[in-house]
Parts: sequence; C-alpha cells; structure tokens
Amino acid sequence: MIVFHAQEGDLDAIMALEESGFDHARWSRESWGAELTAPDRQVLAYRDAEGVLVAVATMQLVDDFGDLLRVVVAPERRGQGIARKLLLASILMAQASGAVRILLEVEEENGPALSVYGRLGFSPIDRRRDYYGAGRHAIVMELPIDASSYSPGSPVEVAS
Ligand SMILES: CC(C)(COP(=O)(O)OP(=O)(O)OC[C@H]1O[C@@H](n2cnc3c(N)ncnc32)[C@H](O)[C@@H]1OP(=O)(O)O)[C@@H](O)C(=O)NCCC(=O)NCCS
Repeated sequence: MIVFHAQEGDLDAIMALEESGFDHARWSRESWGAELTAPDRQVLAYRDAEGVLVAVATMQLVDDFGDLLRVVVAPERRGQGIARKLLLASILMAQASGAVRILLEVEEENGPALSVYGRLGFSPIDRRRDYYGAGRHAIVMELPIDASSYSPGSPVEVAS
C-alpha cells in the first residue's frame, strides 16, 4: 500500500470518492479543500498499485486527541481491508504527534464502518439521537492510543 498526505492536486479524486460514498450530507469541494489546507488536519490518502487514489481519511488533531472526521473507500475496492490499513496509518501518525485518544461519530446503521472501527479497537462511549437527522442516530466511539497501551500488534493485525 502507498499512504501519503493528500494535497490540493488530489481534490478531483477526493471529490469522486465523496460522491461515490455518500448519498446525503455530502461534503462540498470547498469543505474538502479546507481540510487539505487547515493546519490541524491530517488528510491521508491511499494509492493502489496502479497509482489510483482509492481511499481518503481526514482527522482533526487538537491538543492530545484526534477526531476522525471522514473516511471513504472507492466502492469497487471495499472489503479488501483498505479502510483498516489507511486508518491504522492515520492512528499511528496521530499517536506519533502526541495524541492519546481518537474519537469519532458513526451512524449506527453503518455496518461496514462499525466493523472497521471495532476491528481497530474503538469502543462505543455514547449515543446521540437524531444526530444525522430524524431517526438517524450516531454512536460516539473512542480509541485510547496512549503509547503504552496501543501498538500495531495490539489489537490490530495488519495484512501484508
Ligand atoms: C466504511 C468504509 C470506509 C469501509 O471501507 P473498506 O475498505 O471496505 O473497509 P475494510 O475492507 O477495511 O473492512 C470492511 C469491513 O466491513 C465489513 N462489511 C462489509 N459490508 C458490511 C455490511 N454490509 N455490514 C457489516 N459489515 C460489513 C467487512 O466484512 C469488513 O469487516 P472485517 O474487517 O471484520 O472483515 C467503506 O464502506 C466506505 O467508504 N463507505 C462509504 C463512506 C462511509 O460510510 N464512511 C464512514 C463514515 S465517514
């Protein structure tokens, strides 16, 4: 895998992912552009062996915690562990920057995302009713990444 810091030149590819990944509450080109330039954001992307940008994830780093804001994988490349690997890279970079925990919100009906987060070690800590609109609730999840308690070998297994 090739994980790299996304740049403004990657915006077209990121917008194609965004449009493929979300039916509602899509982020605009301006929003993604702001992610790519904000000093407190860590935007990592994943290029496949053919050089195609097939996944992106953005995290806000504030004080000693990270807030995972968005992750999306190209539909034809899902189920291959790409999100798990990209997020592991993002988590370890956040840890190297001094973060001791990661937080995120996920819609409780989003099975694939819940599966990825659970495999990475995230645990539910709260539920927000109607967070994404009427009847669409969010689960708040947390992953402690203090260097003494979180390492690539535990609890994550990384496929080669
Ligand atoms: C969520 C998402 C990023 C996962 O990407 P991915 O590369 O397919 O994820 P992985 O291959 O690493 O893992 C997929 C997991 O979901 C599971 N999965 C796939 N479809 C599923 C479903 N319908 N219900 C439950 N789990 C499912 C897979 O079995 C796998 O779990 P495992 O690791 O226990 O085997 C991808 O589905 C996506 O881009 N969705 C649209 C955008 C989105 O919802 N983003 C998250 C909120 S910002």
